[in-house]
Amino acid sequence: MKVMVAGGAGYIGSVVTLRLLEAGVDVVVLDDLSSGHADAVPEGASLVRAQLSDADATRAILRDGVEAVLHFAAKSLVAESVARPDVYWSVNVGGTRSLLDCMRLEGVSRLVFSSSAAVYGQPELTPIPEDASALPTSPYGNTKLAVDRMLADESRAYGLVAVSLRYFNVAGAVGSLGERHHPETHLIPNLLRVARSGGPCTIFGADYPTPDGTCIRDYIHVDDLARAHLLALDATAAERVGGAGGHRVYNLGNGRGFSNLEVLEAARRVTGAAIPAELAGRRAGDPAVLVAASDRIQAELGWEPQHPDLDDAVADAWRFEQERVQPERP
Ligand code: UFG
Repeated sequence: MKVMVAGGAGYIGSVVTLRLLEAGVDVVVLDDLSSGHADAVPEGASLVRAQLSDADATRAILRDGVEAVLHFAAKSLVAESVARPDVYWSVNVGGTRSLLDCMRLEGVSRLVFSSSAAVYGQPELTPIPEDASALPTSPYGNTKLAVDRMLADESRAYGLVAVSLRYFNVAGAVGSLGERHHPETHLIPNLLRVARSGGPCTIFGADYPTPDGTCIRDYIHVDDLARAHLLALDATAAERVGGAGGHRVYNLGNGRGFSNLEVLEAARRVTGAAIPAELAGRRAGDPAVLVAASDRIQAELGWEPQHPDLDDAVADAWRFEQERVQPERP
């Protein structure tokens, strides 16, 4: 079987590409390398450097025997989306619009889409089930919700068979594949950078309505997330997914929340470093608490997390951080 992985040079897309290759799937990566890295594309996959909105490049790949698409190619930073919403609507929604047109024209009807917990905004219920009301607090969340709705509409109209995976906070690394964002804005890599090279880290917001006043997030190991993609891809082989039409939504998290200060403690525990922290004001667009109910994907696709411990994910990210920055010399 052959698939196209849009965004396969990025953090999550590259880990999924690796696991697909190991499962015997042929992979063509489409990536414009705007935030991904060519050397993150695992050996065995081919790389086409183009934007998702480049219909000619996309159609040429799809026409060459591709049966399904896994779509990671998006802008994904909450605060940046507040500052530059036009870029988010253009890349995330415009890019996906173009992809769906290309898929329909080339007769490719199976899609696994990277959606996000950011669609829920500040939820009424925690852990959050998939049928919770979706009221995003950021343009990023708005764009992911818009695509989820687009997929639902197109599945009814055109027979698209799609799965939206709503990731909560992804962490950890697999071998040489880990988080390499420039600039880095995520909590765990920022804490680990401070552990390695000193300087204080900043904790955004200590006045949230949570027990210690800092935001709470649900961290999922990137390898557990990758396994969910392979299960979702299999599920799209049927005409309907989950017995509920051609579009199914699944949350992916561990169902346990950690405050930013608890994550700081985990990073101190794993690294043995002091990691000095400064408390600062809130960051725009951040909801106070995001914790997943992932019962649906467990029941319907048989997904089980194998690395549910936060310390395991932090330890893998720490190993990646050290190996990347201080590579072994021959
Ligand atoms: N934070 C800090 N200091 C930092 C970096 C982050 O305090 O240096 C805080 C943030 O303000 C937030 C928490 O740590 O309260 C987590 O922030 P991240 O940037 O690590 O992750 P987000 O929760 O903002 O977003 C991530 C992905 C999104 C996804 C979301 C789902 O980037 O794409 O998880 O929960 F939608």
